[in-house]
Amino acid sequence: AVIGDVGLAITQSMMLTGLFQYGVRMWADIENKMTSIERVFEYVNIPTELSNASAIANWPAAGKIIYDNVTVLNYNDQEILKNISFKIDPGEKVGIVGRTGAGKTTLVSALYRLHKSKGNILIDDVDITQINLELLRENIGIIPQDSTLFTGTIRSNVDPKAKFTDAELWNAIETLNLSPVVKSLDQIVLPNGINFSSAEKQLICLSRALLYKSKILILDEVTSSNDGNIDELMRSIIKNYFKDITVMVIAHKLETILYMDKVMVIDQGLLVEYDQPETLLNNHNSQFHKMIESTGL
Ligand SMILES: Nc1ncnc2c1ncn2[C@@H]1O[C@H](COP(=O)(O)OP(=O)(O)O)[C@@H](O)[C@H]1O
Ligand SMILES: [Mg+2]
Repeated sequence: AVIGDVGLAITQSMMLTGLFQYGVRMWADIENKMTSIERVFEYVNIPTELSNASAIANWPAAGKIIYDNVTVLNYNDQEILKNISFKIDPGEKVGIVGRTGAGKTTLVSALYRLHKSKGNILIDDVDITQINLELLRENIGIIPQDSTLFTGTIRSNVDPKAKFTDAELWNAIETLNLSPVVKSLDQIVLPNGINFSSAEKQLICLSRALLYKSKILILDEVTSSNDGNIDELMRSIIKNYFKDITVMVIAHKLETILYMDKVMVIDQGLLVEYDQPETLLNNHNSQFHKMIESTGL
């Protein structure tokens, strides 16, 4: 009986240590989960972006863009863009060039009211601070440099509001030469679209823009698409399918720029040149001329 008691004591105490370990693990787990909950509360308490102002019917009808002395500040209140003024007429195609960090992306994202800024931006003569934020962002198509896709299918990415027929979707996909990549509309898109290349992701986003035509389209070209055909394709798409749409293209290939109506050269937060490509090209002192010269085009 004594031996039995000893055995019982040993097995019981082993079970106890097990339970104790389990208890510690649970405690750690609870602590982790509490941190998650705290984080959720943090997000819940972030003040919502100002979504004031009215919804204006049929805005924007033309797609005219005016920047009137726009200065954009970063979170340290340093000026990223300084006193930018320009006008883009409805339907014009404008190429934007400049070194990395010059402020090109900031210039176009100011249209989405993503930054602290001074001065005025007008679209079809309405100050964008007077426009409801959802309406504003819905009406400007932006295809970022690091375009991403939503988890789902090709269909849910190209036509998120399910407004178009299969034939219309295929039409857009084929226009963008995506048929070699897209075999079915129900093809799976993994989180962040990791099963597609950067250029393919941009093209898929562009196919969405092709269907949901907004009056203004912004395109931040992928820096290094190793596929020369894509640049040519983008060029022909812009020319043929976005005829009456105002398009701003941040272009990394100078070939693209030569086909635009106007060129903006951004340098260290300043708009240093804004004119037709031929005019800038003929001015041997222009930065644009020097850029083209250095690429040997
Ligand atoms: N999220 C950010 N936080 C801090 N600084 C930023 C951020 N985005 C851009 N900047 C700064 O703003 C300037 C302009 O950047 P950006 O508009 O991205 O230039 P570009 O598109 O011409 O390469 C750069 O000096 C960059 O360091
Ligand atoms: Mg950029």
